[in-house]
Amino acid sequence: MSELKVLLSRQQIAERVTEMAKQITADAKGEPLLFVGVLKGAAIFLSDLVRQVEVDATFEFIAVSTYGNRPTPTQELRHAWDSTGEVKLTKDVDQSLRGKNVILVEDILDTGLTLTFLKRLLQGHQPKSFRVAVLLDKPSRRKMPVEADYTGFQIPDEFVVGYGLDYAERYRNLADICVLRNGTSTNEN
Ligand code: IMP
Repeated sequence: MSELKVLLSRQQIAERVTEMAKQITADAKGEPLLFVGVLKGAAIFLSDLVRQVEVDATFEFIAVSTYGNRPTPTQELRHAWDSTGEVKLTKDVDQSLRGKNVILVEDILDTGLTLTFLKRLLQGHQPKSFRVAVLLDKPSRRKMPVEADYTGFQIPDEFVVGYGLDYAERYRNLADICVLRNGTSTNEN
């Protein structure tokens, strides 16, 4: 049996996303922005964020797969989400980033392997500016020295789901962000 415990309520999330949008608006200084969301986890965060940004903005989505760290319902959580470090792009942007003010939007910064890979890749497109917005940050798990420019919340070393984040594709539609803990039995259907 899995146990869900609310870590960040929908109201806390909404308030923080509004603050982040205000900061991003101020930093944009009237220039247009291109948000690049990482599927699927960042989709809900991105949609709440961009609707509150008060400059001309559009968005794209990219997708990556990380070998070894996508948990399946039969795996024990803690081992299942340790990354092997190999990241691969599975969906690219549909438009050029050259000369644009790009904001990469990620759900969670964990080991930093994904963000390190994506920063290198997207900065290679020669955007005018490049910033990173993450909703959640687990600094204690970092393997690569990478930070976001905008961070919603720093959280402890727990596996979280909801507001776009999944465990084996489940729980993405929870409105709150919850800590997911597995019991010894992992026989979920
Ligand atoms: P990193 O490359 O280790 O920084 O991992 C980033 C990715 O791992 C995120 O975009 C998520 O897809 C996944 N991830 C890391 N921690 C969690 C978690 O607590 N819940 C759900 N997904 C997570």
